[in-house]
Amino acid sequence: MATEHDECIGSVKGQLAKLFEVSFKVTVPNEPDVEPLVAACNGKFGDYQCNNAMGLWSKIKGKSTQFRGPPAVGEAIKNNLPTSEMIESCSVAGPGFVNIVLSKNWMAKSIQKMLVEGIDKWAPLMPVKTAVVDFSSPNIAKEMHVGHLRSTIIGDTLARMLEFSKVKVLRRNHVGDWGTQFGMLIEFLFEKFQNFEYATETAIGDLQAFYKASKQRFDADPAFKKRAQQAVVCLQGGEDKYRRAWAQIREISRNEFHKVYQRLGVHLEEKGDSFYNPYIPGVVESLTKQGLVEESKGARVIFIEGINKPLIVVKSDGGFNYASTDLAALWYRLNEEKAQWIIYLTDVGQQQHFDMFFKAAKRAGWLPPGDSSYPKASHVGFGLVLGEDGKRFRTRNTEVVRLVDLLDEAKSRSKAALIERGKGEEWTEEEIESTAEAVGYGAVVTVLKFMDFGYRATPLFICCMLMLESVQSSGGLKGTLVLGHKDERDLGLHLLQFAEVVEEACTNLLPNVLCDYLYNLSEIFSKFYSNPECKVIGSDMETSRLLLCEATAVVMRKCFDLLGITPIYKI
Ligand code: ARG
Repeated sequence: MATEHDECIGSVKGQLAKLFEVSFKVTVPNEPDVEPLVAACNGKFGDYQCNNAMGLWSKIKGKSTQFRGPPAVGEAIKNNLPTSEMIESCSVAGPGFVNIVLSKNWMAKSIQKMLVEGIDKWAPLMPVKTAVVDFSSPNIAKEMHVGHLRSTIIGDTLARMLEFSKVKVLRRNHVGDWGTQFGMLIEFLFEKFQNFEYATETAIGDLQAFYKASKQRFDADPAFKKRAQQAVVCLQGGEDKYRRAWAQIREISRNEFHKVYQRLGVHLEEKGDSFYNPYIPGVVESLTKQGLVEESKGARVIFIEGINKPLIVVKSDGGFNYASTDLAALWYRLNEEKAQWIIYLTDVGQQQHFDMFFKAAKRAGWLPPGDSSYPKASHVGFGLVLGEDGKRFRTRNTEVVRLVDLLDEAKSRSKAALIERGKGEEWTEEEIESTAEAVGYGAVVTVLKFMDFGYRATPLFICCMLMLESVQSSGGLKGTLVLGHKDERDLGLHLLQFAEVVEEACTNLLPNVLCDYLYNLSEIFSKFYSNPECKVIGSDMETSRLLLCEATAVVMRKCFDLLGITPIYKI
């Protein structure tokens, strides 16, 4: 049965790797499963290079008298390559590097095929079927802040790239909705509202302020503190009134988060700490049976090689913690959801936590040792978002910039700028609003996304999209694409490398790779488009070049889409 996956041809690199595999079987029949080392090289000798000769030589040199050194191995690899319409020529250089020059005809045909069949056919082939992306994950009753925004947008991009690659992605919002702080919040809710069921968002107002006030109360009044501690016990014991109060606070928080996700156009499914809570005892029990859990200073812990402090799975008071929850969640994701790759996005401050519980999971045999095989757990840590005081942005006990306010501010500034430029008279109110949102939210997202990348890229992208829009309207799918000029060929090659770039960004969890690609694509396109020898409109090559422009627009748009950026076509 053919699946959607089978229809993807995979990346150029992947297709070449397959040809090399065939060659290896003939060249070195006694060496099974040699993994082809193929890379784009964009050098003067070729477009791609295969670097297996030296490695193979060191494996076979004692055993075979057939070759006299790596160059000879390279030569044989080249000669045994099956004929393929992909390849125009190949040559061997230095210590056996096999260089491949792609056929211009094949390149043009492939691009034109993509235009007809759609860019989805250029999806890379990933080795997993199901992945969990655990991202955003703010804490209930605490305001979502800029730190969570980075997790949200980087996580969304990774999820989009994996989804494009035909991986089923479970987008999980692992919210902090369980823990001792709820005792304090519940007691405060009871105190403030006799009829707490009616305590809606409007009544509570700012949840962050609510949190702060209850914390102040908690610190100042020992009697309140006692009641709050008792409330935790009641909540965990499942007492109805407490459960309902907890649900109320959760609901208010959830509505607040939802507004932010809506504005950013990000989709997530909530499964928070409380969801995994019922699974913890069983998981701890089975780890104990395996002999992994030991007693240490009244707590129950797992020791991890190379780290001097152990991972606490049951606190000395018998309660569970962040690590126990994460172990239960990982167990659930692997066994119930059958995920083969679980990806977490938080700031680097949590690196050690992830490192430790991943190692515990490896000790338990849930995950294979090392990091090269699946199932796999990965943590993507990004830099801490610091406040103006240079300290880590915090929500508990401190004033922080609220994400909602930040987005509001961004939108109103871009709206003001549009009005200042006279768009108020030219455009409809709707156009102004939607452009202000796209530019405003886009600016926040772009700044965060391209943080390590610099701002230089944005104007270039906009220019390219505008140029492409202007030529595109006169394009069509008829005619034949030819990559005659060097600038045309360069652009075509770069377009064809889209799949392997997405593959690399996914495999190494580096969305930045796609940012770089988009930036280079913009540059290569500009070079082609501004070259008088490659004149588009009114030249003999008009149809072909319009097709090339159209393919560029399709790829660029896909990049924007994967990066979660809404392009603006009107400025
Ligand atoms: N709620 C946590 C925080 O705000 C992030 C949770 C990340 N996900 C996880 N499975 N630990 O810091």
